[in-house]
Amino acid sequence: MTQIAIVYHSGFGHTDVIANDVARGVAEAGAHATLLRIEAGQTDFDAFFAAIAESDAIVFGSPTYMGTVSAPMKAFMDASAAVYFTKQWKDKLGAAFTVSGSPSGDKLNTLTTLAIFAAQHGMLWIGTGQNPGNNDDTSAATDVENRLGSFIGAMAQAANDSAEVTPKAGDRATGVSLGRRVAEAAARWKAGAREAVAAA
Ligand SMILES: Cc1cc2nc3c(=O)[nH]c(=O)nc-3n(C[C@H](O)[C@H](O)[C@H](O)COP(=O)(O)O)c2cc1C
Repeated sequence: MTQIAIVYHSGFGHTDVIANDVARGVAEAGAHATLLRIEAGQTDFDAFFAAIAESDAIVFGSPTYMGTVSAPMKAFMDASAAVYFTKQWKDKLGAAFTVSGSPSGDKLNTLTTLAIFAAQHGMLWIGTGQNPGNNDDTSAATDVENRLGSFIGAMAQAANDSAEVTPKAGDRATGVSLGRRVAEAAARWKAGAREAVAAA
């Protein structure tokens, strides 16, 4: 079965919601998702690295704090230097999602930070693959997929309310779609690799 690791941090629960939506999309595509939630102050990521080693793709998730990834996510990224030189994650697929308080909130910087991180590990990047959701002047709807119009990764906005209220339905559907897309791409990538080995 195709294995997808979802590595994420959530300080107040909003990114938790999207992480679970991504996992739902993975399951819808017939793959298995492992949720790896980074805790504040965590320094030991050995169990995470073991789970990731068995995964075909890694989806990174972080709230946007001060215009970039949160400190716990950065702690995980820095700790990954331990596996960086072995190139264990090379040719795994990668994708990302982020949640912030403002509609923009400089979320793009969080996603590009995670895309560069994946590139440093030799991973292959998967974007949302969706059209922008709100592209005319009558639509400010919050139930539209990709309503924030992001392509490099899934964006969600949560108005600093309870995680039970936000992120909005459209952002949550965008998370599900990303999970599905990554799982489908990983299954194709895995099957292609098997064919290539058989043909060699
Ligand atoms: C330390 C801190 C910094 C933040 N920085 C930003 C920011 O740069 N842009 C933004 O739009 N929201 C910012 N926010 C709001 C969070 O991104 C927002 O509340 C998000 O939903 C938090 O996700 P979480 O509940 O998963 O922690 C910040 C919140 C905190 C606590």
